[in-house]
Amino acid sequence: MLYDLIQETTAYIQSRITIRPTVGVILGSGLGSLADMIEQPVAIPYSDIPNFPVSTVEGHAGNLIFGQLNGKDTVLLNGRFHYYEGYNMQEVTFPVRIMKALGVETLIVSNAAGGMNKDFRVGDIMLIRDHINLFPEHPLRGRNDSRLGTRFPDMSEPYDHTLLQRAHEIARQQHIDVQEGVYIGLQGPTFETRAEYYWLHVIGGDAVGMSTVPEVIVAMHGGGMKVFAASIITDLGIREELNVITHEEVLEAANNAAPKLAKIVSELVGTL
Ligand code: HPA
Repeated sequence: MLYDLIQETTAYIQSRITIRPTVGVILGSGLGSLADMIEQPVAIPYSDIPNFPVSTVEGHAGNLIFGQLNGKDTVLLNGRFHYYEGYNMQEVTFPVRIMKALGVETLIVSNAAGGMNKDFRVGDIMLIRDHINLFPEHPLRGRNDSRLGTRFPDMSEPYDHTLLQRAHEIARQQHIDVQEGVYIGLQGPTFETRAEYYWLHVIGGDAVGMSTVPEVIVAMHGGGMKVFAASIITDLGIREELNVITHEEVLEAANNAAPKLAKIVSELVGTL
């Protein structure tokens, strides 16, 4: 049972580390440099951790890093599990269950995303206000284990309003321009057709990507976790030119914007 797997994995991790993280960070494509923010890092490769899936995608390193982020005990997932890689939803969201079991109260999630909002440019940071779930499988589908959370979780404010406002304030103080918007999560791995980008915009999306939504849903399941999330806009879905999007361009744009997002995240963690 999932509950027993969580206990086993958590016990193993606790046998290897001395800190008790209250902050969890999930890094997105090309944002691996955010891992450099962690002081006195102790890395545990996924392959050492019982029940942990192993990451396969280029640009994703694959270890849990423990240490201090701006003075706060933090666990950082360096290389996330995407549904398009073939993992099931339980595997995709397992690290969030583990973070919760380790005592994480604030979850910070980053991703690379395609922009649909006409005011967005490549390299923009979009703070996520809300999401639309278009994944074909729900991470909470199946028998509910009430030890892990409630059957019908409330989703009225998955992205903590206070953290969002604080991030805006930090960005202003640091002279970093940020956007805000709605993230649509879907399975990929294809980028969207022009008609799909248009449709995603019409239904209320500002950015689209292949992650984040399942993890945030599971963070809401247990209650008590506050979430802050941000996208780096790595390409524009609604555009005039007939250019194509490549994974390399996505990684490059994310890499370039990563230091700015890292600054916002570390300052935000300092306020917790
Ligand atoms: N669509 C979906 N996922 C993405 C995109 C996109 O345009 N860019 C980066 N991840």
